[in-house]
Amino acid sequence: MKVLVTGAAGQVGREVVEAAAAGAHEVVGLDHAALDVTDAAAVREAVRAVAPGAIVNCAAFAAVDRCETEPDVAFAVNADAVRHLARAADEVGAYLVHISTDYVFDGRKPDPYVETDTPNPLSVYGRSKLAGEQALDPERAAIVRASWICGRYGANMVKTILRLAGEHEKLSFVSDQRGHPTIAADLARMLWWFVEERPAGVWHVTNQGAVSWYEFAQEVLRANGDDPARVLPITTEELQPPRPAPRPANSVLRNQRLIEAGVELLPDFRESLAILVRSL
Ligand SMILES: NC(=O)c1ccc[n+]([C@@H]2O[C@H](COP(=O)([O-])OP(=O)(O)OC[C@H]3O[C@@H](n4cnc5c(N)ncnc54)[C@H](OP(=O)(O)O)[C@@H]3O)[C@@H](O)[C@H]2O)c1
Repeated sequence: MKVLVTGAAGQVGREVVEAAAAGAHEVVGLDHAALDVTDAAAVREAVRAVAPGAIVNCAAFAAVDRCETEPDVAFAVNADAVRHLARAADEVGAYLVHISTDYVFDGRKPDPYVETDTPNPLSVYGRSKLAGEQALDPERAAIVRASWICGRYGANMVKTILRLAGEHEKLSFVSDQRGHPTIAADLARMLWWFVEERPAGVWHVTNQGAVSWYEFAQEVLRANGDDPARVLPITTEELQPPRPAPRPANSVLRNQRLIEAGVELLPDFRESLAILVRSL
């Protein structure tokens, strides 16, 4: 099968393209320069030209804080473009896998979120991603919600933590925001399961192991053979300077539908983090 990957130069896009190399599919990866997904005509033309059996949409405006000041871009990329892709996919009969986020939730639930919980985003980014979900027909496309993605490519928290550890003796991270860290290579592998099995609707796909950012930073240092006691806990209120976009306090995503489908979950993040840190 031919598979079109949009946003192919992003941290997830690159992993999706690389994960395919070992598989049986022909992959056409288009980066931002090759296909601007906000251009409806260009999307239609590219999808017609490639005629894929499936599309994996890895394009997004994922800079959570910048979305607060650039809402037009956020909604164009994260919502309108998803509609363009869905239309184009329908025209050629392609299955569409779209990536969404834990930030569609407000974080007030005391337990992990399941796919049927009602979203209530706190930020422009979260609202734009929810609008993207709503642009899709849940009977015909898959919405894969991931969280706290880190990988070899692009900027992410693992790289930030390692950089700060090289610059400062003590590091401060918030202990009042919890989530499931997700390693991009693991997510990419699961996205290929979606391409092959073609399930529809909303799915939570993350590595296992819920932590706060404070605990995550400790794990990153531990994986790097460094002393985790160098990381100190702070509250979101104490964060200087404060982040423009509010984040949910709890955005742990229970992978309920994968569990019900009997699919092997992605491993505990610590396993894959160790491999990632070694590769950086
Ligand atoms: N990162 C996280 O922690 C996280 C957590 C949960 C969910 N997600 C979701 O996971 C998906 C992948 O995110 P990521 O971490 O891989 O982000 P990323 O590294 O920023 O990749 C997104 C890619 O989309 C491209 N892009 C932006 N605007 C575009 C446009 N108009 N047309 C085509 N491509 C465009 C970007 O290219 P340029 O950089 O050249 O603009 C970039 O290469 C997104 O849907 C994101 O919302 C991310």
